[in-house]
Amino acid sequence: MELDVLKDDSQTEAGSYFVANYPPFSVWSAEHVPVVRAMLAEPAPADPPAMGLYMHIPFCRKRCKFCYFRVYTDRNARDIDAYMEGLAAEVGLYADQPRFAGRQFDFVYFGGGTPSYLSADQLRRLVERINRHWTWDAAREVTFECEPGTLQEHKLHAIKEIGVTRLSLGVEHFDDEILEINGRAHHSPEIFRAYEWARGAGFQQINIDLIAGMVGETDAKWQDAVGRALAMSPDSLTVYQMELPHNTRIVRESRDAGAAPPVADWSTKRRWVDYAFAEFERAGYVVSSAYTVVKPGPHSGFVYRDALWHGADMVGTGVASFSQVGGVHFQNLDQWDDYLGAIAKRELPLSRALPASAHQRLVRELILQLKLGAISAEYFRGKFGVEVREEFAGAIDALAAEGMAQVTDEGVRLTRAGLLRVDGLLPRFFEPAHRNIRYT
Ligand SMILES: C[S@@+](CC[C@H](N)C(=O)[O-])C[C@H]1O[C@@H](n2cnc3c(N)ncnc32)[C@H](O)[C@@H]1O
Repeated sequence: MELDVLKDDSQTEAGSYFVANYPPFSVWSAEHVPVVRAMLAEPAPADPPAMGLYMHIPFCRKRCKFCYFRVYTDRNARDIDAYMEGLAAEVGLYADQPRFAGRQFDFVYFGGGTPSYLSADQLRRLVERINRHWTWDAAREVTFECEPGTLQEHKLHAIKEIGVTRLSLGVEHFDDEILEINGRAHHSPEIFRAYEWARGAGFQQINIDLIAGMVGETDAKWQDAVGRALAMSPDSLTVYQMELPHNTRIVRESRDAGAAPPVADWSTKRRWVDYAFAEFERAGYVVSSAYTVVKPGPHSGFVYRDALWHGADMVGTGVASFSQVGGVHFQNLDQWDDYLGAIAKRELPLSRALPASAHQRLVRELILQLKLGAISAEYFRGKFGVEVREEFAGAIDALAAEGMAQVTDEGVRLTRAGLLRVDGLLPRFFEPAHRNIRYT
């Protein structure tokens, strides 16, 4: 992250905003990959953390103009089958590691790309291949990301049959002109159709993603989008503030035109998220993180997020995926041929890694949990033996003085103003060597 894009009322310029992990990806390196293999060859501790499986399905009908993920829009059925076979074989490589002996997945995440791009048959075949190595019968949550226009009623039943409990729809907006300008593959009628089918299929939890700050956004259009999302009564709503990493088409096109990217500034985007949160709160929803509101009830949790942000192990499979196991971060090779080539040789397809120190693990959990809106001093005392209010006194006092946080009896609570810009506040908690460097 270039810190200059995080200044309070700055324009939305090229650069990342979302802090997904710590230490920054830019300090992970190939030289640490042997540490991963050594760690996997050792048994897990007697009381291992929760564990999850992430599968990257990198196919899409179209690349969105704001997309910065590793996705392919040009793969045929044979390519997709080869990828699925590789992915299942990769799961098999992990299943054989002593580190995972006897362990079960607590959560599973099909991410993308677009998992729902797969046909019902491709999906069944993938799961059948993976389940030869490992199942997710014990998982408390299985999430599946969908692009609304790829869904059909029978496909949703197939998705339900493979154990998915949490369906996440990439709606982003309801205005067809905005959807088109931003390169989305779907239009609004497909959203409503898919949602009805999904409700009919009986998923425990349906989440809707929106983005505040798409190209062409206005106050009136945003209010309309929030109203339509609320009328659908989803179990949860996720709102991301549009960020423009360097590899997005919006950045490339605006650079070519010698113009600033046509996206609202950060204070406007925060105002839009604030509006969405307030509207949903009026309807009884509760803010559960800087990005999410949930309808209180038995299915309002998000195991993937909460486990990961409390130090769970996660095996990330697929091209360019990220993992963390036993305090070591690692990423897969990010080119198709390299990734599948390694697996064909029965090697883990790793590209770079970083063993995190105890202090870095503490910082990581602290900043990720701040995204939930509050941290518990008791939790950090118990897990790390650290008084966070002393260890991070400088950063916490500054946030309190700026009206971004309050120190409470339990720990630290962000104000709404702080929560809405939380990713911009987190680098203050980084170790000094990580503060003014590139994030990705
Ligand atoms: C990995 S994407 C997958 C979306 C899925 N392929 C679809 O078409 O719905 C998951 C979510 O990330 C969010 N996202 C993607 N790019 C973004 C960006 N540049 N800024 C903010 N949020 C973004 C969107 O809300 C999207 O639904």
